[in-house]
Amino acid sequence: MSKAYNKHLRPRRLRKNKSTRELVQETHLTCNDLVWPVFMLEGDNQKQEVKSMPGIFKFSLDLLLPQVEEAHKKGIKGLALFPVVPDDKKDKTATESKNPDGLMPKAIRKLKKEFPDVILFTDVAMDPYSSDGQDGFVEDGKILNDKTLPILAEMALVQAEAGSDFISPSDMMDHRIGFIREALDSKNYSEVGIMSYAAKYASHFYGPFRDALDSAPKGHKKTYQMNPANRNSALTEVQLDIEEGADIVMVKPALPYLDIIRDIRNNTNTPIAAYNVSGEYSMLSLLGHNNLCDAHGVILESLTAIKRAGADLIFTYFAKDFADKL
Ligand code: PBG
Repeated sequence: MSKAYNKHLRPRRLRKNKSTRELVQETHLTCNDLVWPVFMLEGDNQKQEVKSMPGIFKFSLDLLLPQVEEAHKKGIKGLALFPVVPDDKKDKTATESKNPDGLMPKAIRKLKKEFPDVILFTDVAMDPYSSDGQDGFVEDGKILNDKTLPILAEMALVQAEAGSDFISPSDMMDHRIGFIREALDSKNYSEVGIMSYAAKYASHFYGPFRDALDSAPKGHKKTYQMNPANRNSALTEVQLDIEEGADIVMVKPALPYLDIIRDIRNNTNTPIAAYNVSGEYSMLSLLGHNNLCDAHGVILESLTAIKRAGADLIFTYFAKDFADKL
């Protein structure tokens, strides 16, 4: 009888019991991998559930602080900040984003004072402050790239002044990383980092986030966010952002884009962040809530898969509640 295969090889030996499985496990998820995104409200004593994200709340700063303290005690080291801006403060040029006493800079100052070793990733984009709901400046229905850059740079400077650790441009305008880096350096903020939303796709999975911020765009974002069908252009975006000075590059969303995370991992040495976005959160939460799957199991498996794909940091709404389960 011919020997058609090697009968000595039995991969199941490495899976025969828990200890063996643990000894050969390749990917280990820890709190050090997680960044917790939070939605912030103006005022005091405000707490609102995000309807499309079961279990996620928007908090005014006084109520956010104890939440952050709890997350920090569990080992969470990173926060991503997103302000909810009332309609009457929105306009064409995102004026409120440059207000040094606005919600974002106020939050940065408070959080850095209370929790100096919690690292703050502060969103830079016009959409929460824009009456057009777009990340860039709109004229005659067009998103004007180069008119947006100075607005983003001013926003970044206000955040840097307040104490941001990583300016996090999520707008996908061309050249904004270089423009912001120069602005920061010219004002002596060379130690403030830039975490670039480098490969950010025009995704339907952002739906619940836009609901949370009441920031749904007029029209779409396809002239600046990437086409979900494209893989090669993600490497172009990442390469440009690294050349322009990004310290960390992000892929967003995460779960439907694991191939992109891996491509980037294989092509650069820069740390990669992946954003497990609002729609992914709701999808996984609803599986658990409706008893369709083991809630803890699907979350752990999904976050582990994002890390296995090559992400160093994972932005996830599960961070706080999941931290002590790791
Ligand atoms: C916009 C921004 C979005 C998210 C973060 N920053 C949405 C968008 O591009 O419309 C989405 C995050 C999420 O869905 O959790 N600058």
